Amino acid sequence: MKEKIQQPIAVTPHLFQLGVPSFPVYLSMGAEGMIIEGGTGATADIIVTQIDMLGIDPAQIKSICLTHTHLDHVGAVPRLRRLWPHLKVLAGSIGAEFLQKDTFVQEFLPGDRMIGEILMGQGSIAAQPFPLDEYNFTVDSIIAEGDKIDLGAGIVWHVFHTPGHSPCHISLVEEKEHTMGIGDMTGYFDPSLDVFWPNYFSSLEDYCNSIKKMTSVRAIRGLLSHNGVIEGDMRRHLGKALLATETYHHELLRRLEQGDDKERICTDKADWVCSLGALASYKVIHFLCKLMLKHSAAARGKDLFRLHQAAMHECLESGGMGMPSASRLD
Ligand SMILES: [Fe+2]
Repeated sequence: MKEKIQQPIAVTPHLFQLGVPSFPVYLSMGAEGMIIEGGTGATADIIVTQIDMLGIDPAQIKSICLTHTHLDHVGAVPRLRRLWPHLKVLAGSIGAEFLQKDTFVQEFLPGDRMIGEILMGQGSIAAQPFPLDEYNFTVDSIIAEGDKIDLGAGIVWHVFHTPGHSPCHISLVEEKEHTMGIGDMTGYFDPSLDVFWPNYFSSLEDYCNSIKKMTSVRAIRGLLSHNGVIEGDMRRHLGKALLATETYHHELLRRLEQGDDKERICTDKADWVCSLGALASYKVIHFLCKLMLKHSAAARGKDLFRLHQAAMHECLESGGMGMPSASRLD
């Protein structure tokens, strides 16, 4: 089957969405460029073609910033670096350590191949990408909460540590165009269905705290690690993500209290997640549902979801597209 031609999307004068909608990366252009997200092996060639279509000289793109190191968010790194050796890889310290584990590449390869199969099924690629002799995931620069990444021309990204989806997760906020790169911090969100699958894979408590923390940072668009860009006041998205997490968690606890079989609960959840669109194999989704059931059971009785009442009201009422009235970044 011949692959669909994926056009790059201009989000703002300084920002482009590349890759494919289910596994996008973003190109932020100031005086220099930075790719946000590490893509997948199967989307690396698409990204290269799209940068060419935009007429941007790859020499201008200096870095790739990883929101986290799950295998579906780092796969294009070794391929882009092979092509453009000047690219510097930026990530948090926990992520950098994780990528250097002896077992990382051997765990990465089957998962990256699984994504290739999903994308072939969607008609996004015609064939699996060719294997590399070496998969280099070395992080060149460690970034941490409070750091600024200045791309010139007024484009400055601020770094926030937002664990919970993974221990290494970071989010980014750009101060000129008020864009928030949230990775998988708020889980899997399908904007067309307005549905969340919360993804507290490493810690429910951290996941909620990260969402709550980011409600104090004003932004008017969000870059998701799956399904592209959402426009509008990000406080609303974050408030909805927190409510969706609370609902999901309480449903799991209620079913456990009713004596429902754990396996049945996970199978029901995995069936539902797969009905939203496959981003991983059924086995992987089922494993992740099981992981979250464990985290929910361990967090029973904890008060995790309460935003300051005024903040919650503000979040859920802030549907507008206007510029934020106040900003921690101003
Ligand atoms: Fe992830």
